[in-house]
Amino acid sequence: PLASLLELGGVKIAKDDVVRDDPTNNVPDTIFAKLGMQLHRRNQHPIGILKNAIYEYFDANYPNKFDKFDDLCPIVSVKQNFDDVLVPADHVSRSLNDTYYVDSQTVLRCHTSAHQAELLRGGHTHFLVTGDVYRRDSIDSTHYPVFHQMEGVRVFSPQDWEASGLDATNYAAQDLKECLEGLARHLFGAVEMRWIDTYFPFTNPSYELEIYFQEKWLEVLGCGVTEQEILKRGGKLNNVAWAFGLGLERLAMVLFDIPDIRLFWSTDERFTSQFSQGQLGVKFKPFSKRSIYIDMDNYVQLAVIALVKSNPNSPFLKPSNLIRKAEVPCNVNISSTVHCTKEVDTDNLEQRKRPGLAISPDGVFCVRGDWYPPCYKDMSFWISESFTENNLCEVIRGVAGDLAEEVSLIDNFTNKKGMTSHCYRITYRSMERSLTDEEINELQWQVRDQVQTKLNVVLR
Ligand code: PHE
Repeated sequence: PLASLLELGGVKIAKDDVVRDDPTNNVPDTIFAKLGMQLHRRNQHPIGILKNAIYEYFDANYPNKFDKFDDLCPIVSVKQNFDDVLVPADHVSRSLNDTYYVDSQTVLRCHTSAHQAELLRGGHTHFLVTGDVYRRDSIDSTHYPVFHQMEGVRVFSPQDWEASGLDATNYAAQDLKECLEGLARHLFGAVEMRWIDTYFPFTNPSYELEIYFQEKWLEVLGCGVTEQEILKRGGKLNNVAWAFGLGLERLAMVLFDIPDIRLFWSTDERFTSQFSQGQLGVKFKPFSKRSIYIDMDNYVQLAVIALVKSNPNSPFLKPSNLIRKAEVPCNVNISSTVHCTKEVDTDNLEQRKRPGLAISPDGVFCVRGDWYPPCYKDMSFWISESFTENNLCEVIRGVAGDLAEEVSLIDNFTNKKGMTSHCYRITYRSMERSLTDEEINELQWQVRDQVQTKLNVVLR
């Protein structure tokens, strides 16, 4: 049941203040339900544990310096979210397609940078702001319309850089990089990192930090030297500053081995009970009871190779997720691997430790046997001018909620009459149980129905 009165940053907010009949409003009930959840304030939740670990780093390196905020209301003005950080009037992030608008002047913040200006004006020179942020987006294992960021800002005075021999901007940029490299080492231990030049409206120069983890470069934060205009408006004429914004889910997925971003919202005790206060980086163990296992080693090898070949982009099939890397001949045939199956009880630890692959009823394999089976549904339609993938995903989320794991465009063509057809594949999967055919079919019918009525497309 949705709480209809929320207390957010000391402000009382009624559901009708957020989800209402305003021509600009695009906040669905499912998003409203996330307001006030504040995962980042739970000390036993991976997001809260990570926040505390970052606090620890700042407390150790800059004792009593950084003011911390983690209870600022996520409902902010367009001015705070965009104008105050110099986001141009025509920037895509302002569109109704990308941002949740409560009304034409009010949004659910899309980044914690929305609080930079007011805190600077309030006289803060060192601060960390942690909070939930909201973005309309596509659906896959690393994107969710609500996630958490931590913003950091540090302001310097002339005496800070004068002694260094560097100009103010270079001094701030160097300090920023040292600070964040130290943070990455604090969280990950010795890691390879690289800086990428990029663009943000509010910083110049701007960078992204990537770390090398599990055979991939992973973008973990954006940062840079604050635009002078922002400092000037904050009454800091003779200063220079740096700012960063880091995505907590991204980091937590890596640190805790959490393979799907929806899990952060799970209230299943088999998820929540695995984490405890102060324990950074305890590896998450997926849970499942009803998988079918192949338990003959050679069959496992064959299946892994076949699986990787047929799903080269699957996030579950990163080499690091595989039980074993097999050297197997190239002419592998999936059907040759499926006839040796055995039911096992994954609550039984001895059996769980065994290498294995799950096979879902429709013949789709899951690595480690720890995943409930997915269910794929394809849907084709002629799009209209106004069609966007974010809108499609909003409809699907409205019907299926967290059962929607991924939505991907698998076919796209334009016919001689100039009509464009899209085919989307929806992956349904629960993190907590096996889904039945009946319930998925029911969801898919509702999706088809709503796609037609709400998105102005013609199903094929
Ligand atoms: N607000 C940026 C984002 O959400 C991150 C950022 C913060 C970049 C501060 C630079 C400085 O992507």
